[in-house]
Order: sequence, then C-alpha cells, then structure tokens
Amino acid sequence: MKDTSLLLLLSSLCCCSTDSARLTVTPSSSQVFRDEPVSLRCEDASEGWTVRRNTSREKRTECGVDWGRSAGSSCNISSMDPRDSGEYWCESTEGSTSNTITITVSGGSVILQSPALPVMEGDNVTLTCRTKMADPPSADFYKDGVSIRTDSDGHMTLLHVNRSDEGLYKCRVQKGESPESRLSVSEKPTTTTMDPPTTSSPPPTSSPLSTCSPHLVFRLICHLVVLYCISTFLMVSLYRQRARGSDPSVSVVMTPPTHAEQGLDDDYDDVMSAVTTEHQF
Ligand SMILES: *[C@@H]1O[C@H](CO)[C@@H](O)[C@H](O)[C@H]1NC(C)=O
Ligand SMILES: *[C@@H]1O[C@H](CO)[C@@H](O)[C@H](O)[C@H]1NC(C)=O
Ligand SMILES: *[C@@H]1O[C@H](CO)[C@@H](O)[C@H](O)[C@H]1NC(C)=O
Ligand SMILES: *[C@@H]1O[C@H](CO)[C@@H](O)[C@H](O)[C@H]1NC(C)=O
Repeated sequence: MKDTSLLLLLSSLCCCSTDSARLTVTPSSSQVFRDEPVSLRCEDASEGWTVRRNTSREKRTECGVDWGRSAGSSCNISSMDPRDSGEYWCESTEGSTSNTITITVSGGSVILQSPALPVMEGDNVTLTCRTKMADPPSADFYKDGVSIRTDSDGHMTLLHVNRSDEGLYKCRVQKGESPESRLSVSEKPTTTTMDPPTTSSPPPTSSPLSTCSPHLVFRLICHLVVLYCISTFLMVSLYRQRARGSDPSVSVVMTPPTHAEQGLDDDYDDVMSAVTTEHQF
C-alpha cells in the first residue's frame, strides 16, 4: 500500500509533472514548398500536450481540431499551404508551452532549407537552396539582406557556428529568391541535462526514477522532507488522541500495533494520495 503510494508519488514528481516538452518537425526545415507534407511531434511530453499554432489568420488554434491530423502528441499536415505559415508549439492542458518553430510555406519556386530548431554553438550548419525542379547549379546566400556567399552547388556550410551567425537567411537563384528564415544558435550546454532524442519514450509507469533529472531529485527530496514532517505530525497527534481517549495509564511507546497502526497507515496513505493528486497533471 505504502509502496504503491510512494511509487505514484515518485512517478508524479518525475514524469507527470514535466512541464516541458520539445517540438520537433519532419522534414527539419524552416521552409517547405506548397503541397509538401509536414509532421510535428511533441517529444518528452506526457499526456495532454497538443500542437498549436499562430498564423496570420488564426491564433492558438489546435491540431486535430482546427487544422491537421493529430494522434497522441504528434500532428501531421498532409499538404502544406502558404496560409499554414506561422509559429508552431506544443501546449499542455495547464498552459505550459514548448519551444516554438517557425515554418514558412512558399508558394513560389525557391526555398531555403535551414534548420527549424536552434543549432548548437560549434556545429557545422548546411543551408540548401532548393528549387521545385532540382537543386540549382548556383545560388547566392544572404544574411540579414546582405549577400554573403555564392555557392556553385546550392549548398552553403557554416563551419563551427557561433552567436554571430544568427540572423535572417535567404537564397537567390536565377528563377527567384526564397523567403527569409531565422537561424538561431544556442550556447553549448555546460551540463549534460538533455537526454539524446529517443525514438520511443518509455511508458510513464514503467520506471519513474529513470526519467528523473537533477532538479527533480531536489524537488523530490524537498517533498519527502515535507511528507516526513506531515506524517510525524500526524503520528504524534494520533498517539496523543489515543492516549487521551483510552486508558491514560497506557504508555505511548507501549501501544500495541493493532488498530491504531491500521488507522495510521490509512492516514499516511491519505496524505500520500493528497500529495500525489496535487502533482497529477
Ligand atoms: C500567438 O498569438 C497569441 C495571441 O496573439 C500571442 O499571445 C502569443 O504570444 C503567440 N504565440 C507565439 C508563439 O507566437
Ligand atoms: C504522421 O506521419 C508519420 C510519418 O509520415 C506517420 O508515421 C504518423 O503515423 C502520422 N501521424 C498521424 C497522426 O497521421
Ligand atoms: C565541421 O567541419 C570541419 C571541416 O569539415 C570538421 O573538421 C569538423 O569535425 C566538423 N565539426 C562537426 C561538429 O561536425
Ligand atoms: C564567430 O565566428 C566568426 C567567423 O566564423 C569569427 O570572426 C568571430 O570572431 C566568432 N565570434 C565569437 C564570439 O567567437
């Protein structure tokens, strides 16, 4: 009984209370052509997270309700339209939000394929200028409106990017130019907090502790201390009550572990479920 409650407490602290999710997109490009499919996924998300978006015409609309096709925490658009251009993010029922991905759908004939997610400092980043028919023989690349490079094969690689590489990029070929997209460079994390992206997340009940991150362990300790105080208080007050109610000559320490223990157990469980429910999102 106690063990179940404790397990529930741990899993609610470590799994269900994750107020963070990560939105990923396939193909991982900030620009796509009209009629191309796009698949969005809320990773590391517990139940109740959905993909939402802002476009120029609609705000905070939900996948599966207002647009797209949803299943669990993923969302597909089978055929993108320029009106699907906008900011996409994951949102929980409590209103927590993930990172935001900006997707631009081009009705034209040129797009710049650039990473939809921020790249890490030090990474090599390849930008590709794509035309509807084939990769262009030659493309000019622009950063913040300024021509930075002409590449003969339509690809441009930025070696070991740093913060100064952030900006709005576009490319131009003879046929025309692509929309602009922002490249974001995030600092290299100093601690290894992020797990590598996994294809399948474990079911939340299988091993709650395996998904604990360091700051959750702190919270766990904090909650256990609070729990300890509550149960100690309850124990003391229950024994006091019992000592007062029954034969006053019975010593507190000598109390036989029969009915009182049972009641205490139940109270303990009540406390546990109270604490647990508080954290079930
Ligand atoms: C979406 O639109 C709402 C309403 O205009 C705004 O409050 C919110 O910040 C927008 N979210 C993003 C990610 O752009
Ligand atoms: C979305 O597309 C992916 C890959 O094309 C597929 O595996 C997944 O089942 C689709 N999901 C939905 C909700 O249609
Ligand atoms: C980036 O490219 C350079 C030169 O091609 C290579 O030496 C380096 O290992 C690459 N770095 C990463 C992080 O891939
Ligand atoms: C970033 O990289 C550019 C060249 O790629 C270099 O000139 C600049 O000094 C670097 N900036 C920092 C802060 O490392």
